[in-house]
Amino acid sequence: MDQMQTEKVNEINQSFLAYKRSKLKAPPTGMFAESHVMCLNAIGMAVMTHEGISSDVVLIDVHENKLKGEMLDLQHGSLFLRNAKIDAGTEYSRTVNSRICIIAAGARQREGESRLNLVQRNTDIFKSIIPQLVKYSPQTILIVVSNPVDLLTYVAWKISGLPKNRVIGSGTNLDSSRFRFLLSQKLGIAPSSCHGYIIGEHGDSSVAVWSGVNVAGVRLRELNPDAGTETDDENWKEIHKQVVDSAYEVIKLKGYTSWAIGLSVGSIVRSLLRNSSDLHAVSVNVKGIHGIEEDVFLSLPAILGTNGLTKIVRQKLEEQEMEKLRQSARVIDEVQQGLII
Ligand SMILES: NC(=O)c1ccc[n+]([C@@H]2O[C@H](COP(=O)([O-])OP(=O)(O)OC[C@H]3O[C@@H](n4cnc5c(N)ncnc54)[C@H](O)[C@@H]3O)[C@@H](O)[C@H]2O)c1
Repeated sequence: MDQMQTEKVNEINQSFLAYKRSKLKAPPTGMFAESHVMCLNAIGMAVMTHEGISSDVVLIDVHENKLKGEMLDLQHGSLFLRNAKIDAGTEYSRTVNSRICIIAAGARQREGESRLNLVQRNTDIFKSIIPQLVKYSPQTILIVVSNPVDLLTYVAWKISGLPKNRVIGSGTNLDSSRFRFLLSQKLGIAPSSCHGYIIGEHGDSSVAVWSGVNVAGVRLRELNPDAGTETDDENWKEIHKQVVDSAYEVIKLKGYTSWAIGLSVGSIVRSLLRNSSDLHAVSVNVKGIHGIEEDVFLSLPAILGTNGLTKIVRQKLEEQEMEKLRQSARVIDEVQQGLII
């Protein structure tokens, strides 16, 4: 590489916030069973449908009979899951040496209930779950799904005592997928070719990064400078509104959401287990980024690998997008201060 190329690479690297690899403890190889654990519920079942996601899975829940029934039902399909070993039970000792623990336990949102309302109920449930998981798998990576996911990722981090890079919330990975689906509907192009991110809070105050929406590098804002703003006569901002409302709509229609969140978490697990360095918008500790001063978790595009979080990508955000993030951070921090952890 000549000097100019080296300088360019350095410049690119500087736009990332890199967690220094040297500071991360590599998991001792061979110590982990290829297993992860999840609570048995609709989300867990949807994660399991991600074919070949893991060869060794344990399901934990408090409902013994339902757990056994679901385990048998899944085992009968294990041929199609590339010989996955599926175990289930109420005892956490079954989860020993798990590489990944997915926590989707807890109370559901009720129709019309905001995610923030759930927080103390689910914090109390976390107090009984997390110490057990960490006791049996001290090197694990926690993926928090339960809502409100950003707050509960913070709660999980605090209770677990694990380093920041090993506690990740499913965050706006799902919102970004909903966003790309809706963009694809409007543009008539497959979701995988419509690029765009929802960042910040998984919830009502999420931020759509309109400045970065593009297809094959052609930015929407080059074609329509007002896209996503109040003055846009093509009304692109309606798509973000639909993203925010979509969980409420599905819950109203079928009582809960499961498939999209399960597939979204499955994609995160795949990146971690395969050390793929794929990018996901996930909830991570964002103190010090984009001017955020509070010790909170919010979603930003992040690179994931064997050690959990490896890098956070600093997008070039507009001032108003950053201000929205900072506002979410302040609101979340205020709720955090009132929590009994
Ligand atoms: N982050 C997201 O995008 C997203 C999407 C959907 C749902 N969620 C959240 O996930 C959570 C679960 O939602 P759901 O629809 O699957 O609910 P659910 O009621 O189907 O499942 C919750 C499960 O948690 C179990 N549980 C409760 N207390 C427990 C404990 N102490 N130990 C072990 N298991 C326990 C219950 O028995 C139940 O099986 C909710 O908080 C919901 O808001 C998050």
